[in-house]
Amino acid sequence: MTNSKTNLDARLERKPSVELSVRDLKVSYRTRNGYFHALDGIDFDLQPGSVLGLVGESGCGKSTVVKALMRLLPEGTKVTGEVKLDGDDLLAMGQSELRDVRWNKISLVTQSAMNSLDPVVCIGDQIVESILAHEKVSKDIAWERAESLFELVGLLPKRLHEFPHQFSGGMRQRAVIAMALSLNAGLLLADEPTTALDPIMQDQIMASIRKIQEMLKRSMILVTHDIGLVAENCDTVAVMYAGKIVEAGPVQEVLVSPEHPYTIGLHNAFPRMLEEGQERPPLISIAGSLPNLLDPPKGCRFQNRCPLASEICSAEEPTLIQKSNGRRVACHHVDKTEQFRTIANKSETWAIGAGDLT
Ligand SMILES: Nc1ncnc2c1ncn2[C@@H]1O[C@H](COP(=O)(O)OP(=O)(O)OP(=O)(O)O)[C@@H](O)[C@H]1O
Ligand SMILES: [Mg+2]
Repeated sequence: MTNSKTNLDARLERKPSVELSVRDLKVSYRTRNGYFHALDGIDFDLQPGSVLGLVGESGCGKSTVVKALMRLLPEGTKVTGEVKLDGDDLLAMGQSELRDVRWNKISLVTQSAMNSLDPVVCIGDQIVESILAHEKVSKDIAWERAESLFELVGLLPKRLHEFPHQFSGGMRQRAVIAMALSLNAGLLLADEPTTALDPIMQDQIMASIRKIQEMLKRSMILVTHDIGLVAENCDTVAVMYAGKIVEAGPVQEVLVSPEHPYTIGLHNAFPRMLEEGQERPPLISIAGSLPNLLDPPKGCRFQNRCPLASEICSAEEPTLIQKSNGRRVACHHVDKTEQFRTIANKSETWAIGAGDLT
């Protein structure tokens, strides 16, 4: 590791100053049945060098956030709001400015990225080509950088001469991460970077992503279903539900004492948050499903699954209230959180349906 650090060229080591602020981001996909309102007023900030976890069940809009930041949404999609990267509004940029930002300032690793490697070009040449496409450096320097990055992600530099089919899935994903890091992007977007891999490989790859993030001081957004991964890897977390952030704040606080009923439910649904020696509680699933976002419900989007739901929840949308300790939560019944937590680990609480506890 020390070797790879000394080998890394100055450009990669330079501490980037990427600061991201997202305000009132709304995304509506055009479908045959009308607009599908996938994101409705997303707000968050990412400080330089820190890691934000974006968590929530399938379909809540996590990848849509990532695609909006990369401006990779399909044509015809309505996007409004403000996404500022070091002060420049990404949503207002023209194509040439955008090309510059993509990969030079933001890079993306997805679950399926490892399948996008070219099967007939050796991996080292693919990384070098991607560096040369964006930067004026010599081929030798680009190759040296690829070697350092391979070491950094736990691959032997001599394997740069090999082809994708000679790599296992986990190795291909590491190679893709090396490629994503090969330009000096200050912001790494990792959308379920390990979901397709087995648990041991997942842990190893997350450990190397974390090491790299700490060493190169990149900012990162880690998208995952897995609260355990968030606990181990993120500084802050934003919990999404049906196209909205329902709770956000410092990881330790949000995960140890969640305040939104949905976060409390999610917490129960994941077994990886156990203290050492603690007995594993039964897994609890939250009954019901996401509302139809072709025609979003009035009021709180979680109301039909929330045991705490009352009249106000169907009448008024709760706003994401900023609290003094850096936490934000959007629920009309935060005052009942303490009480709710004591029964939220019982499956009956979630099975009985909406509003039964009010
Ligand atoms: N091109 C599209 N057209 C219409 N609807 C879309 C499109 N892409 C995504 N959606 C819908 O938007 C919602 C959010 O999708 P998104 O992929 O952002 O969710 P996600 O949280 O990343 O889910 P997962 O955890 O399964 O990856 C989903 O209901 C999805 O079906
Ligand atoms: Mg996704």
